[in-house]
Amino acid sequence: MSTELWRPSLDLALHRNRQSPQARFVQLATVREDGRPAVRTIVWRGFLEDGARLIFATDSRARKWTEIGASPWGEACWYFHVTREQFRLGGPLSVVDESTTDRELLEVRVATWREMSAESRLTYTWPDPGRARVPLAPFPTVPPDPLEPLPHFGLLVLDVSEVDHLELVGNPQHRWEYKRDEYGRWSAAEINP
Ligand SMILES: Cc1cc2nc3c(=O)[nH]c(=O)nc-3n(C[C@H](O)[C@H](O)[C@H](O)COP(=O)(O)O)c2cc1C
Repeated sequence: MSTELWRPSLDLALHRNRQSPQARFVQLATVREDGRPAVRTIVWRGFLEDGARLIFATDSRARKWTEIGASPWGEACWYFHVTREQFRLGGPLSVVDESTTDRELLEVRVATWREMSAESRLTYTWPDPGRARVPLAPFPTVPPDPLEPLPHFGLLVLDVSEVDHLELVGNPQHRWEYKRDEYGRWSAAEINP
């Protein structure tokens, strides 16, 4: 599966926006069990080796984790403000946790945990996300093991199968669409912005 049609543009955007910490924040949309959309900001943690799969870290107790089980399609919307361009990356989402059998994915899960800041790791010791907050109950402050992920630490993997790239710079602007067919072959087309 070749991603060379669109990955160079995304890599270039990441490079040209590398001074901006916000360049790693992506809006990830999923579909709720009732068919409504849900969107949230999430930190992009990297690509898997094949180049078409994006990784995000999350808590398996979070609502989105369950949503994906019922309806796996997701879309990441990524705006790079230095270069003023947007990528919309759509495809099925899957989850990785300690019960995953794929060895490569398990290694990526552990590596992602180890690369995260102590502050981010600490959030996984907190009580169930989304539940009512117990007044005055202090949150844990003892950092978890930086080498071994907590059981509810998980990854979301977005297997990109379509890409919409919009460049605002230029008059007229530029927009490209990339699609992967059922045989894994990518095609590209420039479309009207
Ligand atoms: C800048 C920023 C970065 C965030 N990064 C993450 C992240 O990497 N993983 C995550 O699960 N939630 C992250 N969040 C919190 C999510 O936006 C969201 O509130 C949380 O995951 C619960 O979403 P859910 O109820 O749809 O599961 C981030 C929020 C902000 C504002």
